[in-house]
Amino acid sequence: MDHLRSAAWYQGSDRNAYIHRAWMRRGLPDDALDATKPQIAIANTASDLTPCNMHLNEVADSVKQDVWAAGGVPYNLPVVSLGETQVKPTAMLWRNMAAMAMEEMFRANPIDGLVLLGGCDKTIPALLMAAASVNIPAIVVPGGPMLTGYFRGEALGCGTDVWRLSEEVRAGTITNAQFQESEQSTIRSKGHCNTMGTASTMAVVAEALGMTIPGFAGTPAPDARLLKMSHETGRLIVDMVAAGRRPSDIMTRESFLNAIMAVAAVGGSTNAVVHLLAIAGRLGIELSLEDFDEAGAGIPVMANLQPSGSFLMDDLHRAGGLLALLSQIADLLHPQPITVTGAPFVASLGGHPVYDDTVILPRENPLMADAGIAVLRGNLAPRGAIIKPSAATPELLQHVGPAVVFDSVEDMRARIDDPELDVTADSVLVLRGCGPRGYPGMPEVGNMPLPRKLLEAGVRDMVRISDARMSGTAYGTVILHVAPEAAAGGPLGLVRTGDIIRVDVAGRSLSVDLSDEELSARSQSPQSEAAYAKPSRGWAKLYVDHVMQADTGADLDFLVGSSGDEVSRESH
Ligand code: FES
Ligand code: MG
Repeated sequence: MDHLRSAAWYQGSDRNAYIHRAWMRRGLPDDALDATKPQIAIANTASDLTPCNMHLNEVADSVKQDVWAAGGVPYNLPVVSLGETQVKPTAMLWRNMAAMAMEEMFRANPIDGLVLLGGCDKTIPALLMAAASVNIPAIVVPGGPMLTGYFRGEALGCGTDVWRLSEEVRAGTITNAQFQESEQSTIRSKGHCNTMGTASTMAVVAEALGMTIPGFAGTPAPDARLLKMSHETGRLIVDMVAAGRRPSDIMTRESFLNAIMAVAAVGGSTNAVVHLLAIAGRLGIELSLEDFDEAGAGIPVMANLQPSGSFLMDDLHRAGGLLALLSQIADLLHPQPITVTGAPFVASLGGHPVYDDTVILPRENPLMADAGIAVLRGNLAPRGAIIKPSAATPELLQHVGPAVVFDSVEDMRARIDDPELDVTADSVLVLRGCGPRGYPGMPEVGNMPLPRKLLEAGVRDMVRISDARMSGTAYGTVILHVAPEAAAGGPLGLVRTGDIIRVDVAGRSLSVDLSDEELSARSQSPQSEAAYAKPSRGWAKLYVDHVMQADTGADLDFLVGSSGDEVSRESH
């Protein structure tokens, strides 16, 4: 075994080494702090306030047993956890804070290797950002999706069916009482959302990046195999420390391109864009919005999963899982990137049959032939905006219509159902003040509700544009992540109701019929500033002062680049 990082704490006969050892002994075996014993932290996002990750303490126990068995010493390290459905104003405001706190605690402690326990949307991204920053050997354990819940005999997809049913209430096709009744059935078991939302997408990302044991992502949280693979992870992290295999050996530009292809193939969440850009940024890897468009182009959506398709994560697992799905495009993936095992990711493909080709569709007959994420640019989004065509209405992917502008979520909620609102199915709904700085935190409000009077008339989709994100479980012709955001001086802040907006997804453009002169004249007297957040203290202040725009991942500017695992000065 190479020189261990933890030796800087535990080896030697001086007073400080004595202190570090003495306080940790607490009944550990005599040799636990020897120079040959990898010290493994289990970065654990279990929290009773992160319902999707509540079960991770049990998972940590399985990891621990095999860290011991393999000759390492495990430690439970609770880290900041983020419950997507609970945390206000949006879990995204806290992603960078969680990642920063994790990074600093990984570096400050006597740690040689990391097992990263995540699940709910932001937890795996934050863990990966932190692990990338310290570059200590690390493996992700994706906590897994929940089992399918049923309501009146029909499967309910987390998130996706909440959006659908709440729109049905507003359209008057079901009663609010019926909607409320379904609340008991949505969350059937432990685990994260069972749609191909952000949590499932980020588990796919972790695996395609090479950061999990291959075949792990998508294993349902209550499935016995989750614990089995957690045991295997405990053994592997000890080997990985011995081999000196680090995140930067695994997460290369090519593995990011593989991850982008995997996200396209599963019809994954648009949130993967900001998270992958941020993780790459921590490694100093060049990755741009265009890489998503280019690497994802031509990749067929083969996962027939909500929100793009019909089934749920348990069905994907039953049908053969991610490896069966990706085996169908093995020839398109970059062959070089390795996984935590040291073998190339593509070596884990093949030999994984598809057991249900209504869930994992054949490459020749996919849900959508060419999906991925389209990047639009133009005078409304000089630094880009994104759309997920697989979740959109094909006829709306090319559209011209007058803007109906909302300056904030509150403004939108107050007026959207007003019978007097001047809006038709051809209007383009514009929501601003919802970017990283403006809200702050870039909430998932981009899939804004449709006006009630149009819903009642049978309209089920409209073009919507914002500087916000949307939930990975949501759907619609929704253009997101407009950069720069309105609160950062982007032209989205200058649009007025009635301006004509042009969307051409095939042509990759998003523009407003205004001349440069008109835009610059309007920028002299911006109208919507009052609606943008101006925090005066705390994390929100630090965040607003330093957050970058969505096109580079919305990380803080001073967190870009890796700081490594250098051991700091003595504490006493
Ligand atoms: Fe946690 Fe969806 S709310 S994964
Ligand atoms: Mg979400």
